[in-house]
Amino acid sequence: MSDLKLVDVSKSFGAVEILKKVNLDVKAREFIVFVGPSGCGKSTLLRLIAGLEEITSGELIIGGERMNDVDPSHRGLAMVFQSYALYPHMTVEENMGFALKFAGMPKAEIRERVLAAARILNLEPLLARKPKALSGGQRQRVAIGRAIVRQPKVFLFDEPLSNLDAELRVHMRIEIAKLHRRLRVTTIYVTHDQVEAMTLADRIVVLRAGVVEQVGSPLDLYDDPANLFVAGFIGSPKMNLLPAVAVITAAGRTALRLPDLGDTLVVLPDGTPRLDEGRAVTVGIRPEQFSANGSAAFDLTIDIVEHLGGTTFLYARKDAGTAIVVEMKEGRTHKPGDAITVRFDPAALYLFDADGSRIRAGV
Ligand SMILES: Nc1ncnc2c1ncn2[C@@H]1O[C@H](COP(=O)(O)OP(=O)(O)OP(=O)(O)O)[C@@H](O)[C@H]1O
Ligand SMILES: [Mg+2]
Repeated sequence: MSDLKLVDVSKSFGAVEILKKVNLDVKAREFIVFVGPSGCGKSTLLRLIAGLEEITSGELIIGGERMNDVDPSHRGLAMVFQSYALYPHMTVEENMGFALKFAGMPKAEIRERVLAAARILNLEPLLARKPKALSGGQRQRVAIGRAIVRQPKVFLFDEPLSNLDAELRVHMRIEIAKLHRRLRVTTIYVTHDQVEAMTLADRIVVLRAGVVEQVGSPLDLYDDPANLFVAGFIGSPKMNLLPAVAVITAAGRTALRLPDLGDTLVVLPDGTPRLDEGRAVTVGIRPEQFSANGSAAFDLTIDIVEHLGGTTFLYARKDAGTAIVVEMKEGRTHKPGDAITVRFDPAALYLFDADGSRIRAGV
């Protein structure tokens, strides 16, 4: 259980800079999740930490020690990949103990560690099987077991669940959460999956094009995104983002004209920053922020209805405007083509400047 620090870490492949001055302080025992669009550098960052790629500039410090030039095998890390990469000719027990055997550990101690890990992962009945006789979830558990037996100071996971079907993913996600509660090993976990990121992380690191956009607890990122990118990335379905133009009302208040909502004017509440007339901004509102009451109301036509059982998502629009996603708890009777009036509280809106930075209330 070590803390881990990245100081101005950059990585280039040839002339292309893939990671740009990444700074991150991971506390001992923390569960950190890297998220970001495909190609943003998540795996590369993990591989730099693991020592599978060389750091171009900056420092990696694990447990107070500079690790840039330390051999991967001496960094005290264990990595679990998307492809489990099990040896097909070895049993589960042999697969799990292989790295220890390779390191010259006595047989009795290997067996003890493998059995302890197998107990944690419910693999005891499968120890004598070969990988081909295992389900996807069981194989993934063996891959995790292989990492556990090494008793690493830091676990690194690169999309470990993305080869599993939906049900198994949920199951393994919960297993990984339990494992972390039990072992309390510092963990860095890469995923594309919103729900995995939100549910597993103590803190999420949002990356875009090799730059850290925001670091924070899942709910901090959800409730208080630093910019338009994070606002649009965290949350599923996504936050609705609509272009708007500031208008000063006759009473001297700031309002927003929303072209996608038939030029509806929404007067901003006190405490919202005053915007100059004509300033172009983006307005954000999450699907669940629409409610039966709220001073702003507008009429939409429903395009698509998604019934999930407990919740319904309506995709609706005003004339030819952008589709707006509305979450309804009581939405079972809605049908495509129906008209609907949605309301929201203007105080709940998120505002973003033309450069994507957040315009905060009271600033
Ligand atoms: N060995 C390499 N040589 C050159 N470019 C590379 C190399 N490895 C990765 N890249 C590039 O670095 C960028 C980041 O890749 P990386 O695999 O870290 O992305 P990622 O965020 O993990 O994406 P994904 O979500 O698709 O797995 C990509 O543009 C990729 O093409
Ligand atoms: Mg990747």
